[in-house]
Amino acid sequence: MSLEMMNPFFCQTQVFTRLPFAKGVSKLANGHCPLLLTTAGWLERNIDKTVRSQLITDLVVADPINSHPKLLDIIAMEKSLPIFDQIIAVGGGSTIDAAKALAALRALDSNASLFKNTVIDATPFGDDFAPSPIVAIPTTSGTGSEVTRWGTLWGPYMEKYSIMHPTLYPTSAILDPTLCVSMPEDVTLYSGLDAISHAMEAIWNRNHTPASDMASTASIRALKRTLPLVLNNPDSLELRQQIQIAALYAGYAMGTTQTALAHSISYPFTAKFGLPHGFACSFSLGEVARYNTEADSARVGLIADAFDCSLDELPDKFHNWIKEMGVVHYLKNYIPNRTIDCIDEELINPARANNNIHNADEKSAKKIAQASLKALF
Ligand SMILES: [Fe+2]
Repeated sequence: MSLEMMNPFFCQTQVFTRLPFAKGVSKLANGHCPLLLTTAGWLERNIDKTVRSQLITDLVVADPINSHPKLLDIIAMEKSLPIFDQIIAVGGGSTIDAAKALAALRALDSNASLFKNTVIDATPFGDDFAPSPIVAIPTTSGTGSEVTRWGTLWGPYMEKYSIMHPTLYPTSAILDPTLCVSMPEDVTLYSGLDAISHAMEAIWNRNHTPASDMASTASIRALKRTLPLVLNNPDSLELRQQIQIAALYAGYAMGTTQTALAHSISYPFTAKFGLPHGFACSFSLGEVARYNTEADSARVGLIADAFDCSLDELPDKFHNWIKEMGVVHYLKNYIPNRTIDCIDEELINPARANNNIHNADEKSAKKIAQASLKALF
């Protein structure tokens, strides 16, 4: 057996965990001509003034980023922006993904049609592709976008596109828990569930490595304990930081393996019902665990161990865990009833499902989704 690791654990982002974000901005942005990308909510809370106060250089502030950044909106926004050589992204995964898209478009000399075709056709960026550095300052804890080399963009009808390149890793990420205490309860919940989904999907994944397993199991252990606690103690900086680190570990793992069957199943639920991603990619995890146990019980056993239960208990323990955090209330707000008959032939996204250790087709995916809703509703 070769001693070489085929998919070594790899991440180019320098992550700061004990640096107040304002100090971090001062350290990382001075000497640059930075662009601040953030949300309307953070602009209302004067994040632009805080960032500007740390700089001796000028700061360009972009229009606010909405959730699910659209390809055409990014193109329109980029046209209106002056020169910048760094992006400071303060927000959730959508903001950091939008930063990657803007950096990518600028790196293509602002050629909108080339960018559009590259994204829609999923063609690789060229060898000389060199986007501006990104400083990612996440204000939610879940997507892992601060330590991955890809971003998600959306079409006018919620078609999902991905951009990916090794140079799209943020150069730096600042994890400051003070930016997370204002996170609403539902966002705390669904971003934390996105993180545990990344961690579990990195384990039942054909691309798993010893390092991704280690990061995933640490993440599952921490999230299982801490996510219910932080919902009851949203102002706790200590708990917020523990969730940030758990989500970071999940991001490291998923950055190596990509996601698998639960994420594949999630996409039509978000596209058709508007179900937030973290709910969509986590409601099926218990049943995906049951399904994947048939293929590799030792692998799913790693998750059961981290979840502090036996393999047989895992699906029900997971369902109870998310029920106790109030997930069903949110699911019912989005999914009109427990049937998914309007979703047909869309649950298998080969780029995600093919990573899963147990082959799945539309029929098996539909069975998993239906069993999940039956168990939860
Ligand atoms: Fe996700």
